[in-house]
Amino acid sequence: MGHLVPLLIVFIGFKAPWPVLARSDSATACGSLEINEIADFRKLQNCTHVVGHVRLANVDLTAAAGAGNYGFESLASNVSEISDYLMVYRCTGLLTLQSIFPRLRIIRGQAQLFDKYALVVYENRNLRELGLVELLRVQKGFIRIESNPMLCFVGTIDWLYLLGNATQQQYSVKHNRPHSQCPLCGGPFAGFEYLKNGSEHCWNLNSPQLRPQPPRSKDCPVACGLSGCDVAGKCCDHNCVTGCYSKNCELCANYQGKLGCVNQCIATYEIDRRKCIGNRECRDLGRIPLARGYQCVKKCPGNQKKVVDDKGLIQCQVECKGDFHVKSAADLEVLQDCITINGSLIIELTNIKEKIVEALENALVSVKEITGYLKVIHSVQLVSLTFLQNLDSIRGEKLVENKYALFVVNNYHLEHIWPTNHQVIIQRGMLFFHLNPRLCYDKIHQLQSSLKSGENISVADVSPNSNGERVICGDGVRSLRPTVEDSNSTAVRIILTYMDWEGMETLLGYSFYYKEAPQQNVTMYDGRHGCGHDNWLMDVTPSKSRRHVISGLKPYTQYAYFVKTLTRTDYHMQMDAYSKIGYFQTLPDRPSPVVRIHGSSDSSSQIVLHWWPPIRPNGVIKNYFVTYEKQNVTKEMKDKNYLSAVSSIINDLDCECVDVLPYYSGPQPDDEDYYNKDQITYEDALPNLIYVSKHHDYRRKEFEKVVDYQHLLSIKKKPEPTTPAPPTPAPTNEMLAKEKKAAENYERYRINSEQRQRNMQDVDQEKYKIRHPMTKCSNPHATVVQQVEDKCVVEEKMTGTQLPGNQHYYNLSQLEPDTFYRVTVRACVEGVVNGCSTPADTLLKTASLRMERFIQGV
Ligand SMILES: *[C@@H]1O[C@H](CO)[C@@H](O)[C@H](O)[C@H]1NC(C)=O
Ligand SMILES: *[C@@H]1O[C@H](CO)[C@@H](O)[C@H](O)[C@H]1NC(C)=O
Ligand SMILES: *[C@@H]1O[C@H](CO)[C@@H](O)[C@H](O)[C@H]1NC(C)=O
Ligand SMILES: *[C@@H]1O[C@H](CO)[C@@H](O)[C@H](O)[C@H]1NC(C)=O
Ligand SMILES: *[C@@H]1O[C@H](CO)[C@@H](O)[C@H](O)[C@H]1NC(C)=O
Ligand SMILES: *[C@@H]1O[C@H](CO)[C@@H](O)[C@H](O)[C@H]1NC(C)=O
Ligand SMILES: *[C@@H]1O[C@H](CO)[C@@H](O)[C@H](O)[C@H]1NC(C)=O
Ligand SMILES: *[C@@H]1O[C@H](CO)[C@@H](O)[C@H](O)[C@H]1NC(C)=O
Ligand SMILES: *[C@@H]1O[C@H](CO)[C@@H](O)[C@H](O)[C@H]1NC(C)=O
Ligand SMILES: *[C@@H]1O[C@H](CO)[C@@H](O)[C@H](O)[C@H]1NC(C)=O
Repeated sequence: MGHLVPLLIVFIGFKAPWPVLARSDSATACGSLEINEIADFRKLQNCTHVVGHVRLANVDLTAAAGAGNYGFESLASNVSEISDYLMVYRCTGLLTLQSIFPRLRIIRGQAQLFDKYALVVYENRNLRELGLVELLRVQKGFIRIESNPMLCFVGTIDWLYLLGNATQQQYSVKHNRPHSQCPLCGGPFAGFEYLKNGSEHCWNLNSPQLRPQPPRSKDCPVACGLSGCDVAGKCCDHNCVTGCYSKNCELCANYQGKLGCVNQCIATYEIDRRKCIGNRECRDLGRIPLARGYQCVKKCPGNQKKVVDDKGLIQCQVECKGDFHVKSAADLEVLQDCITINGSLIIELTNIKEKIVEALENALVSVKEITGYLKVIHSVQLVSLTFLQNLDSIRGEKLVENKYALFVVNNYHLEHIWPTNHQVIIQRGMLFFHLNPRLCYDKIHQLQSSLKSGENISVADVSPNSNGERVICGDGVRSLRPTVEDSNSTAVRIILTYMDWEGMETLLGYSFYYKEAPQQNVTMYDGRHGCGHDNWLMDVTPSKSRRHVISGLKPYTQYAYFVKTLTRTDYHMQMDAYSKIGYFQTLPDRPSPVVRIHGSSDSSSQIVLHWWPPIRPNGVIKNYFVTYEKQNVTKEMKDKNYLSAVSSIINDLDCECVDVLPYYSGPQPDDEDYYNKDQITYEDALPNLIYVSKHHDYRRKEFEKVVDYQHLLSIKKKPEPTTPAPPTPAPTNEMLAKEKKAAENYERYRINSEQRQRNMQDVDQEKYKIRHPMTKCSNPHATVVQQVEDKCVVEEKMTGTQLPGNQHYYNLSQLEPDTFYRVTVRACVEGVVNGCSTPADTLLKTASLRMERFIQGV
């Protein structure tokens, strides 16, 4: 008993970690750090907060291991926070990260490696342990610890705690040293020994994993609300990320203000993405407090000018003055937050590979006025000018060629000008639109009313020939009316009304566009790039059938879709018809398994279970079913004592397998090949499909004659010569009868061929069947034969405890002490026969009586 007393003190110190963890905040922030050789570790000197990421790659630390000039001690940094991510890749001679980051407490994951990871430790040959002994939280992003052949103490870490229960974060730990070859927390004499230190979770033999108690939610003063309170009953701030003591957070979730944690800087200025400081403090640091955006910055942002005010203080003033020539996303920074562009805006996006439409939308969202002109040229990517969604007027104080305020030339995919119901007043100056082959003349002509000059748009300035010549404009537009006729969880059948007789003349097939649309606010032009890599997926069917099945969809997901015809055209008259955008939702399906089961036992008769909902619920989860059974564990397994670790690995593998996307819905815009595939469809398939007539009309010739814009300006439309109609002789009875007969014949012919054409559109109906899951048998005891005969299935009887679908925890009680249990959890979706996931299972062990006594004794 005598020697237990000091141990208990250690234990208590650990359970109440505040004095250990609280540290004064004399912060020195540094930017992202790239460490590629030992000398680079100097960059970490003095640094307490990294605003950015840290990447250790290909560092050879074997010399440090030999304690030469750089002993491991000299590598130890004071970094306690990394705002983005930490990556450790192919470092040799590195034994533990404790030698580098002994004080790292939080990785915030504000920006992530590959937009996904916050902590990556990959292919480090000699790494024995992670040793991030003070790490409390990875706030956003995934964790991936993989292929470190010597790495132990990864199964001993409570990863779930590090992720703070966040269901959208995940960790993946694999291909490290097998757990069976790794020591346990507390050393080789596992069991009672390590319990004394109060933790089965550790970073290495000497360092238990610190896990401050999250704020309590029970028995707190009412005033605390949802934020909960600390052990002593004092309210916690709701901006705490882990534990709290009194009103102070262990760590702030967002910003550290003067009086505690806050979720945004109010009347103060943000610095280093983590603190709010006052105006004075910001000045004292030699920085500038920005009035817009409340930031404390070193120098004025791109579009803000340094001005010295009456008091001699440097201020930044948004100033969008001059002519702005946007050729790539990099040119947009200076336009951020501009409301008035005092000057002109020139958009010239010739680089078709850069995805820029979204960046344009974001940067130019506040622009309301351009004092000069707007010029949009050679921008293949643009489908519309709706990225200027708030533009009200173009003043035209400066004009292109002293004449034009809106100059739009040679934009191959431009189909629209402004958002619908949005007028942009052109105070002075005219329009110049040429060589926009997909922009209908009518749409340009509608701008007449916004021209304050009152001058009429001339044919020379806005050519009816070089605009809209690749699409059919005006009355010729036929519209399609598709409906969804049938669906299952991964496919829908769309049916169109019959195409009329004339339409059939030129019809070659249809293309079906679709994409996921959680909200019904999609437009055809959203994020659409002219060059194909937009986010609509496309099925092209070179068939006249009015039915089509879109398959490979995600269950229980809403999609937007529209249909367009593929038509035989000549160069000038493309008779494409479009439908409006419609929406459909796929049906629910069985969910994927529950993600991770996590259990802990503080009492010999209980295990508290937690799990994460399935990654793909595929519907509304109605119930969870939990079962458990005692598991006999062989002596051999017990000796190795790695069971719980093994089972968590098995779970990992399970996850990977169920995650093999069963409904991968075609190439995504990020996919490298996507661009090419789409390009192939556009550039190769379509021209081959489309029959090009040899017939040239006069407009083509005129178009070809055009030498340059000056030439275009000089072309004037010649008036058509009007010839008087010849006098018509009075009809005779005989002629009338003949005509009537001819009309009847013609009508009969028309009806016949219309029927033929309708039949043509209804071909192969078998091909467009949607397969439906079998229904529930009315007889719950139907035999297999009966099931086959009746085409039905017997409903599976679920065993175990049924829980509501919004509950992700369960207490197993009345268990035996120190015993292994195999626990399974299944998720079931509403409205699907046998709609339960395959069971996810894990092995868990109850606490021993000794441990229970020990815990209760404290
Ligand atoms: C760290 O601080 C010391 C003393 O202020 C200074 O001499 C040294 O250059 C600093 N190191 C770095 C990398 O900034
Ligand atoms: C870390 O901080 C301690 C005390 O503030 C200081 O003595 C030490 O030099 C610092 N280490 C580094 C690498 O900056
Ligand atoms: C995780 O969630 C469970 C139940 O929702 C809660 O009891 C537990 O304290 C949470 N853990 C953390 C680290 O927040
Ligand atoms: C457990 O406590 C002992 C005694 O204080 C200490 O030597 C040992 O390092 C601790 N082990 C762990 C895993 O905390
Ligand atoms: C644009 O700049 C000119 C010249 O500096 C100035 O006179 C005018 O007031 C500015 N216009 C706007 C709208 O800011
Ligand atoms: C514009 O055209 C209309 C009719 O086409 C004509 O009445 C009007 O006078 C014209 N205005 C100008 C300024 O040429
Ligand atoms: C649709 O609505 C959602 C939520 O209101 C919004 O996030 C999204 O940006 C909207 N999309 C479009 C294209 O307006
Ligand atoms: C476990 O072992 C006991 C006794 O050795 C035996 O009676 C029982 O059937 C076993 N249970 C299982 C699930 O194997
Ligand atoms: C839905 O129907 C399509 C078309 O018949 C079929 O290929 C698919 O397998 C069906 N999906 C399911 C989940 O049965
Ligand atoms: C589980 O049971 C224990 C002891 O009865 C209780 O303290 C705890 O709150 C329960 N947890 C849940 C999630 O019901």
